[in-house]
Amino acid sequence: MRKKIIAGNWKMNQTPSEAVDLVNTLKPLVKNEEVDVVFCVPAIDLLAAVETAKGSNIQIGAQNMYFEDKGAYTGEISPVMLAAAGIKYVILGHSERREYFAETNETVNKKMHKAFEHGITPIMCCGETLEQREQGVTMDFIRQQVKVGFLNITSEQAKTAVIAYEPIWAIGTGKTATTEQAQEVCKGIRMCIAEIYDASVAEAIRIQYGGSVNAETAPELFAQPDIDGGLVGGASLKPDFGKIVNYK
Ligand code: PGA
Repeated sequence: MRKKIIAGNWKMNQTPSEAVDLVNTLKPLVKNEEVDVVFCVPAIDLLAAVETAKGSNIQIGAQNMYFEDKGAYTGEISPVMLAAAGIKYVILGHSERREYFAETNETVNKKMHKAFEHGITPIMCCGETLEQREQGVTMDFIRQQVKVGFLNITSEQAKTAVIAYEPIWAIGTGKTATTEQAQEVCKGIRMCIAEIYDASVAEAIRIQYGGSVNAETAPELFAQPDIDGGLVGGASLKPDFGKIVNYK
């Protein structure tokens, strides 16, 4: 049985002191030992969030990182720094990073390798645009994202990875994919992992759905056989996140 993983993606929200307040507010609400709970916070909030979450079931994740350990890369944060700060997860290849910050499948793959090297679990995002869905190429596009993203990642590593399926047209729009659409693509991603590796990796890897998840839609989505939790944006900044974590 795969353990569900429900992650909040705070995006570019919350100052360090606001982050402390939000972790403290959510701490009692997100208690649920059956689920892995992750807060992916802005880089500047990471240390304060780790400190504030100590002793709770909340793990802190980053929203991005660079694929070198150190050096002349002004403005970037390295996996060594994240690991040293107690960061356990990192979101890689979010569609906003692909769209606004020129992330490609190749850079995502480099980051995947680095994350594993430093013991950080990647949450690798994939997902189609509305145009791709209408053209009927959703699965072709996502299979390419997954295949290149996981290039030369070992089976042992892949088993521990998290993939977030986030249809771009459903992010921040209030338009959640239907349960059937979300399940269908998550199943397709699992089949793609089985093709790259084998059935045991496909069985182990956790696949989240993301895109306007809220307390109302979470129970049905997370009950699907191939949906192992969610990556939650807007609703992760509110007490509602507690309801999402305790969706049953
Ligand atoms: P949303 O964001 O829940 O606000 O749609 C999800 C995400 O981008 O991870």
